[in-house]
Amino acid sequence: MTDHPIRIAPSLLSCDFARVADDLSKIEQAGADWHHVDVMDGHFVPNISIGPPVVTKIKEASSIPLDVHLMITDPIKYAAPFAKAGADVLTFHIEVCDSVAAAREVIATFRDAGVAKVGVALNPATAIERVGDLLGEVDLVLVMSVVPGFGGQSFMSEVLPKVEWLRAQGYAGHVEMDGGLNAETLPRCAAAGTDVLVAGSAIYGSGDWKECIGAFRASAEGVRI
Ligand code: DX5
Ligand code: ZN
Repeated sequence: MTDHPIRIAPSLLSCDFARVADDLSKIEQAGADWHHVDVMDGHFVPNISIGPPVVTKIKEASSIPLDVHLMITDPIKYAAPFAKAGADVLTFHIEVCDSVAAAREVIATFRDAGVAKVGVALNPATAIERVGDLLGEVDLVLVMSVVPGFGGQSFMSEVLPKVEWLRAQGYAGHVEMDGGLNAETLPRCAAAGTDVLVAGSAIYGSGDWKECIGAFRASAEGVRI
């Protein structure tokens, strides 16, 4: 298992981008541990979101870590700009790498750029064994529980065994799940061994963020082994 504390990471994709500084501060006061920042390039995924200049401003308005999820085809090209913008955790998708050597090159580039934690993500259709050779080299594995690109989709419970597999391998880094987490699905992620729980629409769309984050944290902590 892991001794990482549960971390609740609201996804900024569901904030009000016209009032982002207000939302960042309010969600921090409500108990968020990390801001999850979704970067989409319109190529790896069909949607386009934000780039380094916006992340720079988000960093200035934040006082908790930025967990930057790169849903982009060329993570090496953008590693330094996102590191400079203030990414504390920087995660790339394994699907953009055609070999373990290529993935190692991304990891090395992220480390050289100076990010504190390097993560690797995988889509629901990607076998968990694809990241097996990298477990000694990454700080975080992000198991997608929806097909990436949009907030507000339904949780795909068939990905839960991937988390169990990671912990069964003895992986002691962070395991993060992202997509469709809510009051029903989030404790199932935690029970499987996830310590970083991303939720966009369920938190930002709730009437009371503090109550929602508190309830999510309590439910996740309650099911841990
Ligand atoms: C999906 C993104 C998610 C998304 C989660 O492509 O990576 O972070 O914002 O949103 P919800 O929690 O609404 O599924
Ligand atoms: Zn994400």
